[in-house]
Amino acid sequence: MSDSLDLSGKNVEQAQEAIDALFEGLSGNKHLEVIADFDLRVLLPALQEQKWGRFNWFPLEDGPSNWRIDLTLLDPPVSPRGIEEMFTKDHQRCDDIFVLVEQAAQAGDINNAKKSFAEFILGMNHHFAMEEEGFFPAFEEATGMTQGPTMVMRMEHKQMRGLLMQMQEAVTKEDVAEISQITSTLMVIMRQHNIKEEQMLYRMGGMHLSNQADALLRTVQAL
Ligand SMILES: [Fe+2]
Ligand SMILES: [Fe+2]
Repeated sequence: MSDSLDLSGKNVEQAQEAIDALFEGLSGNKHLEVIADFDLRVLLPALQEQKWGRFNWFPLEDGPSNWRIDLTLLDPPVSPRGIEEMFTKDHQRCDDIFVLVEQAAQAGDINNAKKSFAEFILGMNHHFAMEEEGFFPAFEEATGMTQGPTMVMRMEHKQMRGLLMQMQEAVTKEDVAEISQITSTLMVIMRQHNIKEEQMLYRMGGMHLSNQADALLRTVQAL
C-alpha cells in the first residue's frame, strides 16, 4: 500500500502548503495517493511552476464527489522531462492497474475488480487523450506525417476503447468470467501497441519535438 494524503475540506492555499511540505527532506522517490473533495487540477499550475521535474501526476478518480491523484515525488529530479520517459512511465502504471483487474477477476473478487477497473479505464482514457490531443498532433505537425504511425496508433486506440467498453459492460453485469476473457484479448493488443510507441514513436517524437516537449508535457498532464 502506498501512503495517502487527504486534502478534503482544505482550501487551495492549505492544500498547496500540504503538498509543498511533502517535498521537504525528500530522499529517494516517494509514491502516494492524494485524495480530495475538490478537483485537484487546481493545484497543478503552481506545482508545475515550482516543482517541475520533481513529480509525476496521473489521475485515479475524477469526480463527481471525490478526486484522487497518483502522485510520485521524484528525487533526484528528472530534467529535462521527455516524451518517452513520461509516457512510458504511464504505460507501466496502467499495466500495474491492469494486473490488479486481472487478478481480482480471476479470484472472483468483483468488488476489487470494479475498483481497479474504474482506475484503469480512467488511466487509459487519460493516456489516450494525452497522445491524441497533445503528442500526436504535435508530431504530425512537426514531421508532416499524418498517414503514418500516429494514424495506426489512433486506430489501435479505437480498438482498445471498444474492448474497454465491453469490459465496462462485464463489470456492470458483475461477470468476472467475461472480464477475464476480455483482459486476455486486451493484454495482447495493449502490449504490442505500447512496444511500438516506446521503441519507435516516442523516440521519434523526442527527436522532432525536442524544443516543445516540455511545454507539451505540462499541457497534457493537466488533461
Ligand atoms: Fe497509444
Ligand atoms: Fe501510449
